[in-house]
Order: sequence, then structure tokens, then C-alpha cells
Amino acid sequence: MDLGISGKKALITGGAGGIGRATAQALLDDGVEVVLSDQDPDQLDRAVASLTVSSSVHKIAADLSDVAAAERLAREVALTVGDIDILVNGAGITGPTGAFHELDDDAFTDVLTTNLLSALRVTRAFLPTLRGRGWGRIVFVNSEDAVQPYDDELPYVTAKAGLLAFAKGLSRTYAGEGLLVNSVSPAFINTPMTDAMMDQRAEEEGGTRDEAIASFLEEERPYMELGRRGEPEEVAAVIAFLCSDRASFVNGSNYRVDSGSVATI
Ligand code: NAI
Repeated sequence: MDLGISGKKALITGGAGGIGRATAQALLDDGVEVVLSDQDPDQLDRAVASLTVSSSVHKIAADLSDVAAAERLAREVALTVGDIDILVNGAGITGPTGAFHELDDDAFTDVLTTNLLSALRVTRAFLPTLRGRGWGRIVFVNSEDAVQPYDDELPYVTAKAGLLAFAKGLSRTYAGEGLLVNSVSPAFINTPMTDAMMDQRAEEEGGTRDEAIASFLEEERPYMELGRRGEPEEVAAVIAFLCSDRASFVNGSNYRVDSGSVATI
């Protein structure tokens, strides 16, 4: 399907991560000029090198946990490509896990800063360019955890639930100007984030990563009916659709890409 966005410009935060990189490839394949941003310059280099570049791709390193980073990023993006049409907020961390009584304030502060406040700040920094064009897209990469809170991931679920509410509220403000805002909520995708989770589980269980994945699916994600981790490209396809001209009547939505993991209708 032609997404109708050839020639548009996009910024992807968390761009060197599994879902961010796959999203970059999906947008590049449709002729979008893409800026990848992430915190580690070496990781960014590797991500860009792995892309099949059919149009321009750029990279800008930024640690979004720094309160001033979003404004700096906006200035650098403007110097690099000018105004953007599409913003994908993908940067995120799982952060500390455990029961609530095992978690201190810092456990919440770090996760809220990276997953919620940084997305909010990046959105604010790019609003002037996104608003001024009569056509724009913002996609927040959320999580199944926003609506299905797991009790051992409370900092993460708190941040993602806040981000989902923020995105929904935001979608009401600018839709009339052609700036559409949506969320995508994956579950258990094959990226460095869940590799790290599964390696830790494998160590605790004394088994392999594959065995940890199998036991996690069986014990912790019983509604993931496809019985496997998702691939980043399967999330990127939905993000790319929401970034596209084809999604012209989609606003304030939350698309699940979770093979059924969220148990409610
Ligand atoms: P990932 O770990 O491969 O990518 C996340 C990227 O965010 C990393 O490249 C990381 O460097 C970047 N990042 C983290 N903190 C940052 C900071 N302070 N400044 C700038 N960049 C920062 O993981 P994945 O899976 O690609 O995650 C992408 C998004 O998808 C995240 O928001 C995550 O919460 C969400 N998600 C992932 C799921 C999964 O199963 N992999 C499931 C549900 C949601």
C-alpha cells in the first residue's frame, strides 16, 4: 500500500532501538526523509548502517532524560532537515521491577522521566513546526502495560498509563489543524529491551534465553495467542500506517500490536 507520505520528514526518538530502527526502515521504504535520535552515538551509527536507505537518513544523539535535551534536539533537527511532518516518540526503558514495597522514589522518577516527561518535552519542542503545516502526525509508542498493569512493573505501567492519557488529551487539541495524534501499544517484541529481560529471567531460572521466553509466555502472558515474541517490523507496520496519509480519519486511538495480550475487549 502506498502510504502517501513520500517526501515528508520524520523524527524518531529511540531510533536506534528495535522498534525505532524498524520504523525508520518502514518510513524510508515509503520515501520519507528520516532523522533518528537516540542517546548513544555508537548505537545510532550501527542502526543507521543497518538500514537500507532509499532516501535520506540522518542521526542526532540526545539523552532525553536531560531536561534541556528536547529543545536542543529541535534546534539540531531544524538545522539538519528543516521542519518535520511526523514525530514518533519511541524512546523508553523498562526500569526497575519488583513489588511496590521494594521500589524507592528513584525507581519511579527515572522511568517517569524517560518514558513520560521526555515524550511530552519532545512533543512540546516540535509543536510549532508540526502545527504550522496543516498536515502532521504524532505517534506515541506505548505498551500493553498502559491498560493492563502488571504488579511487578509499576513504574513502567504508571508512566505508560500517563502517556496514553496524555496522547488522548493531546489528540483533541490539534486535530482540527490536521495534526493527528495516536498511540501504538505493543507487547513482548523481539528487541534489545526484551532480550535483556529474558536474559535476566534465564539467569534466575538457570536456563537459556529461549527457555525463559517460553516460560514467560506460558506463565506471564497467557493471552498472547500467537505464542511467540512479536517482531519489530510487525509494530513498525502499524506505526507507519498511523504516520501515513491513509490514516486520515484516525485520531486519539490506541492500536494494540500484542497478539491478544490485553485481555479486555
Ligand atoms: P529498545 O531498548 O530496543 O529501544 C528503546 C530505545 O530508547 C533504545 O535505543 C534506548 O537507547 C532509547 N532510550 C532510552 N532512554 C533514552 C534516553 N534517556 N534518551 C534517548 N533515548 C533513550 O526497546 P524497544 O522494544 O524498541 O522499545 C521501543 C518502545 O517500545 C519503548 O517506548 C518501549 O517502552 C515500547 N515497548 C516495547 C515493548 C517490547 O516488548 N519490546 C513492548 C511494549 C512497549
